Amino acid sequence: MNQEIGLFYGSTTGMTEDVAFSIERIAQEKHGITLTPINIIDLDNPNDMFAYNRLILGIPTWNYGEYQDDWEIVVEQISNADLKGKVIAMFGLGDQVGYPEYYLDAMGMLADQLRAQGASFIGQWSIEGYNFESSKALQGQHFIGLALDEDSEPEKTSERLEQWLAQVLPQLMA
Ligand SMILES: Cc1cc2nc3c(=O)[nH]c(=O)nc-3n(C[C@H](O)[C@H](O)[C@H](O)COP(=O)(O)O)c2cc1C
Repeated sequence: MNQEIGLFYGSTTGMTEDVAFSIERIAQEKHGITLTPINIIDLDNPNDMFAYNRLILGIPTWNYGEYQDDWEIVVEQISNADLKGKVIAMFGLGDQVGYPEYYLDAMGMLADQLRAQGASFIGQWSIEGYNFESSKALQGQHFIGLALDEDSEPEKTSERLEQWLAQVLPQLMA
């Protein structure tokens, strides 16, 4: 079993992909950790993700609270995987201004699904400073993973990423 961290994402218009590349860069430059971002569309079998015990997963929300297209297919394909022992940190992209009632819903839906299959999650992130109406990614006063908004708050992404990675990478490497 691979001891490294797997970094996987789905992306329709490239924003989640850009963030995955930023994660690769920050992990290397600030933490000396080599990550290889993989688009889930490039996996022959999505269950190959679970060759890793520790994962970072990136998911945007589309179409009023729906999965991004590739994730929708992958969620179905991995629905029988036993994820006991898998530790997952998630980052989600959405738009608080355009879709305030559905902000990051897909990140919450994916977490619910993977948790039901046995996975556990790290990298919860405070809702302080965000402005939205509702989100399935909420757990009390926290998001289940890092909340990003490249549409309305792109200027905040770098700092959020650096803070979040400083929190989750040591835990994923432990
Ligand atoms: C048609 C459309 C529907 C969207 N629906 C939602 C939504 O329901 N909730 C949300 O938080 N963001 C929503 N967004 C914003 C996207 O999640 C955001 O633009 C994201 O950065 C796209 O990531 P990608 O380029 O990796 O696909 C929507 C964007 C578009 C264009």
